[in-house]
Amino acid sequence: MSRSQPLCPAADLPPGTTRKFIFTYEGIRREGFAANVRGHLVAYENACRHIPIPLDDDGDFFTTDGEFFICRTHGAIYEPLNGRCIHGPCGGLSLKPLRVVDVQGELWVVLPDEPPAE
Ligand code: FES
Repeated sequence: MSRSQPLCPAADLPPGTTRKFIFTYEGIRREGFAANVRGHLVAYENACRHIPIPLDDDGDFFTTDGEFFICRTHGAIYEPLNGRCIHGPCGGLSLKPLRVVDVQGELWVVLPDEPPAE
């Protein structure tokens, strides 16, 4: 059974915008972000694959042309639809994906299942 948490009304995430959120996984508080990429909803953990620090400075995930996500620290460029780094020090690695679903006009983030307790 997947875990999920509310994000926002779908109308509050129009194309070209992002929204950050907090979630927990493996007992660790983490930050994620959801984005509307030309009508496609995506979400990832907000951690660069080069050094695990947030990609953004202040919610500014997209490149100026709106085509890619960019890490503001060292400039890694990520494909927004699949999270793959296509330029920069983490080339070939991918952002850790989450999932966003639209339930009757409300967006929910679907979180990974917690690993079983040992
Ligand atoms: S921390 Fe993102 S490119 Fe270095």
